[in-house]
Amino acid sequence: MISVTASLQLFDFHPALEDFRASVLQGLKQTPKRVSSAAWLYDQRGAELFDAITVLDEYYLTRTEMSIFRQYGAEIGDRIAGGALVEFGSGSSKKIRILFDALKDKGKALPVYVGLDISKEHLQASCEQLQGDYPELEAIAICADYTQPLELPDVFRLQTRPKTAFFPGSTIGNLEPDRAVDFLSTVASLVGQGGGLLIGVDLKKDKSILEPAYDDAQGTSAAFALNLLARINRELEADFNLDQFRYEAIYNETAGRIEMYIVSLIDQVVMVAGEAIAFAAGERLLTEHSYKYTPAEFRGLAGQASWEARSIWTDAEAQFMVMDLVVV
Ligand SMILES: C[S@@+](CC[C@H](N)C(=O)[O-])C[C@H]1O[C@@H](n2cnc3c(N)ncnc32)[C@H](O)[C@@H]1O
Repeated sequence: MISVTASLQLFDFHPALEDFRASVLQGLKQTPKRVSSAAWLYDQRGAELFDAITVLDEYYLTRTEMSIFRQYGAEIGDRIAGGALVEFGSGSSKKIRILFDALKDKGKALPVYVGLDISKEHLQASCEQLQGDYPELEAIAICADYTQPLELPDVFRLQTRPKTAFFPGSTIGNLEPDRAVDFLSTVASLVGQGGGLLIGVDLKKDKSILEPAYDDAQGTSAAFALNLLARINRELEADFNLDQFRYEAIYNETAGRIEMYIVSLIDQVVMVAGEAIAFAAGERLLTEHSYKYTPAEFRGLAGQASWEARSIWTDAEAQFMVMDLVVV
């Protein structure tokens, strides 16, 4: 479905409620229990809570990635000048603004911009704001699940300008490595031979830095994870009692990933969409993984999907990297 507001064209492929129900039930019936897609965490409230996480002291990722874009913006911006750019998981579209500003400072043309995210209201508001702040920008919003087969609208697909994908936030880390390769292959076919990918990737580091980033003192990460149960209550007629669950984030050094869980505090049975789901005391429901990479590991992963690294930028403490990849 396509809708056009005063300033923005929105292509709406938001998953149906039935897909949410089927996916949630399938995950809850697995042993161990898991949420089948991190995308379900981002309803409107989830998107707001994620934005609150990005400004926490413990959450070094956003400020570090933004500092890389600020420091190297002139150089990175050149990669997208006057082209066509699709941003996956665009959220608040904050980071792309740094590159747009760098282009404007140099008098260079902004790319045609496509923001793509699962969180519809948030996507629409962010893209409308972007369009308002950069009146010369041609912006389009697509609400879709990027892990599903995807076709971009003609305004991107038929572009003769150089095409680039933008995937900041280390969101790639939420995909299992084999799924990440599938996703990177899809992106490669969307931008075509010679097309680019600017991707933000969180780097491996000590768990004393990693774990607080995903389990902050104020409990915002916990609220973000537990909001999923509230969403299931709201949308799937479920009766999770949020007080009977707690949140946990641990760094699994062997697997190189943060593992995020909701843990049942007691033996209990929860009704979800008419089905009884039993939880034992201490039983975990996996909500998300966040994989961490070394530059060499990520280069290897991207290589499996036909991408070659052109440039890598990191912060002074090598906490985070932005990689510029090209389809070969
Ligand atoms: C970790 S946040 C990053 C947001 C923003 N890009 C940033 O760098 O701060 C992940 C974003 O991807 C979106 N998202 C997660 N899974 C998705 C999926 N399967 N399809 C489309 N969007 C998804 C979320 O709604 C959210 O905006």
